[in-house]
Amino acid sequence: MTSALRLGVNIDHVATIRNARGGAHPDPVRAAFAAAEAGADGITAHLREDRRHITDADIDALMAKLEIPLNLEMAATEEMLGIALAHRPHAACIVPEKREERTTEGGLDAAGQHNQLAYFVDRLGAANIRVSLFIEPDPAQIEAAIRLGAPVVEFHTGRYAHVEGAEREAELRRIADATALAVKNGIEPHAGHGLSFDNVQPVAAIPQIAELNIGHFLIGEAIFTGLDASVRHMRALMDKARG
Ligand code: PXP
Repeated sequence: MTSALRLGVNIDHVATIRNARGGAHPDPVRAAFAAAEAGADGITAHLREDRRHITDADIDALMAKLEIPLNLEMAATEEMLGIALAHRPHAACIVPEKREERTTEGGLDAAGQHNQLAYFVDRLGAANIRVSLFIEPDPAQIEAAIRLGAPVVEFHTGRYAHVEGAEREAELRRIADATALAVKNGIEPHAGHGLSFDNVQPVAAIPQIAELNIGHFLIGEAIFTGLDASVRHMRALMDKARG
């Protein structure tokens, strides 16, 4: 089955640039509107424990103003759960978070942290927030997501993005196999991390992937071409790969 492929634009690094000077420019909410105008189906924002980019005020403003779905990326902590339950975004993606990392470096250990994650998946789900787990494209992690009752998983494509040649082909097969296993078990598969104009199409061509979440490359590319052109080109590449 080939389904529509949604694009979630991650706006974290608009906030990174804003925070470099501590003012209000560039505004992540304005970027979210521009991304929506250019064809984004949703906006993704990661409220990190250290608030290094997106802030609580950004989440308030996005929830108040955004007309397309917000996917809140969050660590499995009581603080983030409280924020998610207060705002009730369309979706929450649970990600592993380490204070010293530059970005989300790997997937969740859903298999090893069943008891801790079950509480967050249940509480978010009970509030009608669509929960996803950011995991490696690994059968053991998918089995864990099934046991947790997660409706969505997002496969970490960081390794796919960083290796080349035969290794990349192998990683792509791992993502395709993981996608099939998720779908077979009634879980909606998403993917993201490290995707760019050069590497998005093979992932977008996996017919059952429902959503790609892409941030750093799109915001970086926007420096050269503007956010509108950057998002539109990504959207066109995804559609071409899927079509
Ligand atoms: N999906 C998740 C769960 C992430 O944590 C990130 C990075 O914040 C992304 C997608 C987007 O990754 P990138 O910024 O490399 O496109």
